[in-house]
Amino acid sequence: MSPTNLPRWTASAPEPGDDGASPRHVAIIMDGNGRWAAARGLPRIEGHRRGVDALRRAVRSAHELGVRQLTLYSFSAENWSRPAQEVADLMNLLRAFIRRDLTELHRGNVRIRVIGERRGLPDDIGGLLEEAETLTRANSGLTLVVAFNYGGRQEIVSAVRRIAEAARDGRLDPATIDAGVVADHLDTADLPDPDLVIRTSGELRISNFLLWQSAYAEFVFLSLHWPDFDHAAFEEAIAAFRTRQRRYGGRVARVGA
Ligand code: FPP
Repeated sequence: MSPTNLPRWTASAPEPGDDGASPRHVAIIMDGNGRWAAARGLPRIEGHRRGVDALRRAVRSAHELGVRQLTLYSFSAENWSRPAQEVADLMNLLRAFIRRDLTELHRGNVRIRVIGERRGLPDDIGGLLEEAETLTRANSGLTLVVAFNYGGRQEIVSAVRRIAEAARDGRLDPATIDAGVVADHLDTADLPDPDLVIRTSGELRISNFLLWQSAYAEFVFLSLHWPDFDHAAFEEAIAAFRTRQRRYGGRVARVGA
């Protein structure tokens, strides 16, 4: 398939010199912290803590494996329905992660982007997310996209609302609305679509993650729980990706290997 046949919002489409062998953008549903802890008779918070260790490993591995963007589903819009103590624990882990790791990530040339709804988050968390994005804005290495208070449906609804407002105010002609316009109104407007979505812990669901953006992603489901995710697991997922043929709905196969 020629790149010109691809929709323009599919920014991960093959580029000149890109043989398509490796995913450039990997997105991960980090599932199974609770089950990992339960299997060891530990409190859930311990699973989440070890989940943060796995997250740090994933960032290092992504860099080593030539991944350019890594998106991590860290707190979903639906996670508010968990017991208040667990929600508070997850907020505290995010605080601790940014406070402890931001300097090192910045030194490692990592650019941090946050997607999801900022309204409704504790003020200090909003401030920390802002600080992380601002400090690392000009970095040119791995882009680490933290999906926090994120939901794919909510993101699409909010894009539709802003498009409707622009049309109402005469800033946008409804006849010109196409998939590119919608993509430009998503939180991910400046990011390529994921090539590979990984989910750990054996669940076979998308759970409201990157619904629009994963239209042509390859999915790899791993049975291990997120705290056990390591470099070998990342390599295994990429090896599976390389066996796939990506056709973007067309007939001519673009071989992923
Ligand atoms: C799923 O485990 C994981 C989450 C709810 C979010 C991922 C969170 C982390 C990796 C740790 C927090 C990191 C930051 C930066 C906030 P689960 O509790 O749903 O596991 P279960 O399905 O086994 O119960």
